[in-house]
Amino acid sequence: MIDVCASSDVPEKGKHVVTVGARSIALVRVEGRVYGVDNRCPHRDGELGRGDLDGFHLFCPLHAWVFDVRDGRGFFPKGAEVACFEVKEEKGRVFVATNGVKPSQTDRWP
Ligand code: FES
Repeated sequence: MIDVCASSDVPEKGKHVVTVGARSIALVRVEGRVYGVDNRCPHRDGELGRGDLDGFHLFCPLHAWVFDVRDGRGFFPKGAEVACFEVKEEKGRVFVATNGVKPSQTDRWP
């Protein structure tokens, strides 16, 4: 995992965009936990890290597709998905896995 930022860069209900390799990743913090999703909306590349966050729902700022940051599944429209990145915090730093996973690519999501 890659050290990407300080924990304080991602405040509660806040967003912070980081770069890991060639990927831009939107980090958000909800209920104390940091989640990471691909910063590019699968519709037309809207920057998800610039969208509104409502609970676990992250809204694309361009056309309002909505993704659940916990698993990348589209809340609207259903069937859309965005890659998620494993995130952990340790000693005031945020670490992100280098490979994202879409819900359809894994059975690890409930
Ligand atoms: S680019 Fe995200 S909803 Fe269109």
